[in-house]
Amino acid sequence: MDTRVSVVILAAGLGTRMKSRRAKVLHEAGGKTLIEHTVNAALSIATAERVFVVVGHQGDEVQRVVAARGVRFIHQAEQKGTGHAVMIGREVLAPLGGLLVIYYGDCPLIPAAVLRALVDRQKNSTAAGTLVSAEFQDPTGYGRVIRDAAGHVAAVVEQKAGTREQLAIREINVGIYCFRADLFWKHVDEIQPNNPAREYYLTDMIEILRRAGHTIDAYRAEHATELLGINNRVELAAADRVFRRRKIRELMLSGVTVEKPETVTVDDGVVIGMDTVIEPFAQILGNTTIGECCRIGACSIVRDSELAEGVEVGPFTIINASRVAASARVGPYSRLRMENEIGAGAHVGNFVELKKTRLGENAKANHLAYLGDSTIGAGVNIGAGTITCNYDGRTKSQTKIGKGVFVGSNATLVAPVEIGDGAYVAAGSVITESVPPDALALGRARQVVKKDWARLRREKPAAKS
Ligand code: UD1
Ligand code: CA
Repeated sequence: MDTRVSVVILAAGLGTRMKSRRAKVLHEAGGKTLIEHTVNAALSIATAERVFVVVGHQGDEVQRVVAARGVRFIHQAEQKGTGHAVMIGREVLAPLGGLLVIYYGDCPLIPAAVLRALVDRQKNSTAAGTLVSAEFQDPTGYGRVIRDAAGHVAAVVEQKAGTREQLAIREINVGIYCFRADLFWKHVDEIQPNNPAREYYLTDMIEILRRAGHTIDAYRAEHATELLGINNRVELAAADRVFRRRKIRELMLSGVTVEKPETVTVDDGVVIGMDTVIEPFAQILGNTTIGECCRIGACSIVRDSELAEGVEVGPFTIINASRVAASARVGPYSRLRMENEIGAGAHVGNFVELKKTRLGENAKANHLAYLGDSTIGAGVNIGAGTITCNYDGRTKSQTKIGKGVFVGSNATLVAPVEIGDGAYVAAGSVITESVPPDALALGRARQVVKKDWARLRREKPAAKS
């Protein structure tokens, strides 16, 4: 028998209980949208051209978010229930045959292992389908799994449609199914919206297949709360916490020290080397790689960046889309805004902002500076208060500073401008013309001293007003 797997992920609903203008599956947990998580899980059991996402509310946006993964889409214009969402895909789905795995796009924690176990269970069984069930203390709101005397699943009864005895059952339908595709499509038209919600319930397929003489198995999962769909923002935060804890634990077991781990946020794709220390409330996000023996200071945010080994990031520092070479120090209170390259051993200190700037090896910009669109050589000292004037209101211009240059405090470098190797710029200068190598540039008014001026002023009686 054909056991190739196709997956259908239902993601057309708005998710009313989120109380949001965004469709539920576009909300994020663990740094990714819910739909990305559920599509990733699908790709662990099926090839991309056999993964289908049913989209409706904000379907274009949902499609955009996962399109790069090569999966396919089914459009459900009107949400008439979970059964309807699958039925409308018949034309593309039915010819695929094999096994049909169905679950909901709002369960981001769905583990690949559970999907694989479910498919294996179905492959080795004569049943028409297998569903994942779980035992709950409080089953309110979920579909209840009704079993027959032999222990087979007889039906799933929704909360709104259940009798008192049925609602007392604590085994619930998690919402992950694996059906034999041929039998599913043969009987799917028998789903009727004959329930209080007037919806086409996917769960009715259980009873329908039973009536046609087939059996349905249940696969009881552990850690069931992780499998469940998210309905509101409280559950969203709980899922986020699970992702965060999981990642932090992984990091700690691989040799990273995480201080007050419950306060630290690290995205899934982040790589961090051994003996690096992450201080409380740090956030390390996106596509970031951090080498060994680094320190990421408290409350710092590092995003889409690459830090080599031995880099020290002081507290309250923001590093975005930048590269920092070995043993450099950035922060406290620095901002690497975008596309910067910090050389080995360089220092960027407090209240220093860099944008599209290369700071050479062992160069220092220790206090209060803005360096934008600049190339700064090795060993340069940038004095406190130095500003590159890279924008004249129309265009952005470059500042080039050669090796070993000393830029005195409070210099204003009006770009485009170039300062040659080994030159000096006097403190307080406004530099509008390029400076040759090894020169001293002074660009400030000469100081005037008026002897006894202050004393004479004090001695003169103040004029009456
Ligand atoms: C569903 C199950 C219930 C199970 C529970 C587990 C049904 C009828 N009930 O209930 O047995 O215990 O999940 O969480 O299936 N969707 C569409 N198109 C539609 C309707 C829904 O794409 O027309 C999508 C929604 O976007 C959502 C998912 O299907 O992501 C589940 O729908 P929802 O209405 O939340 O079902 P539950 O009431 O949670
Ligand atoms: Ca739900």
